[in-house]
Amino acid sequence: MQQVPGGISVPKTPELLRDFEQFKQQLKKRAGLDLDQYKFEQTYRRIYTMMERAGYRKFTDYLIYLAADEARLRGFIDRLAINVSELFRNPEQFQILKNEVLPELLRGNAHLKLWSAGSSYGAEAYSLAILLHELAPNRGHQILGTDIDQEVLERARRGVFGESDLRNAPAEYKQRYFRAFQENGRTLYEADPVLKRYLKFERHNLLSDPYPKGFHLIACRNVVIYFSDEAKERIFREFHNALVPGGYLFVGNTERIFTYAQIGFENPSAFFYKKPAQEVQRWRNAS
Ligand SMILES: C[S@@+](CC[C@H](N)C(=O)[O-])C[C@H]1O[C@@H](n2cnc3c(N)ncnc32)[C@H](O)[C@@H]1O
Repeated sequence: MQQVPGGISVPKTPELLRDFEQFKQQLKKRAGLDLDQYKFEQTYRRIYTMMERAGYRKFTDYLIYLAADEARLRGFIDRLAINVSELFRNPEQFQILKNEVLPELLRGNAHLKLWSAGSSYGAEAYSLAILLHELAPNRGHQILGTDIDQEVLERARRGVFGESDLRNAPAEYKQRYFRAFQENGRTLYEADPVLKRYLKFERHNLLSDPYPKGFHLIACRNVVIYFSDEAKERIFREFHNALVPGGYLFVGNTERIFTYAQIGFENPSAFFYKKPAQEVQRWRNAS
């Protein structure tokens, strides 16, 4: 047994590690998921735990079991991704967004194109929709929410949230933009169609799919924490490319981009990285 970060012990014999290598290769071939781009310790521990729960002791046997049923394999991939979210997660950052970043973007653009990358079940994307509707309603803004997990995307399209999802949402927004109803003895909240008009949810794998472009703001929060440093660096470069000049990347509470200047970002405030507006100009001057 070996202690790994997080405190849970899982066995890590040379045989198991060799077996895990084969599992990764086969998973990549069959499902296109490259686990080498995820942090090793966490990924190993989570898959080991899932395998044990399913009653298997070898990763390659577990893969045969998973691959025998398309839905089972998809469910495995979905469970690998942690979907925790809530509306206005880290509210102080949404204050900066509302008071500084979005007004600046709205001064220069009639309508904005936003991307919630790793949107989970949509709480972040709906929070963005509320702010845009508050600041500049009915201007044809577009908000794309993407995730690797199909199941959460279905939930996002429905736009139904629980009480705990809304615990950080300002009371007036909760009242204005959500309709409370009862389901199985629980109070749930459905987002107003006025918000849904701005939103579109699609599957996108940040590690392997081509990136959409032309965004004024990309929120990618609490997603890349599971990825290796190389994968993170590539993703941040892709985001830089996907932003219009003057656009912002909005990251999570515990996240920093140490190489932001090399990538071409400015860092005007914590959690916000800006693609300089003058970039085109600088490039023209250089040529
Ligand atoms: C913890 S949630 C973050 C949700 C939201 N951004 C927030 O901060 O509240 C992380 C999400 O990243 C998604 N994810 C994990 N790997 C991904 C990948 N390779 N491509 C796209 N999304 C991924 C997971 O499915 C999960 O829904």
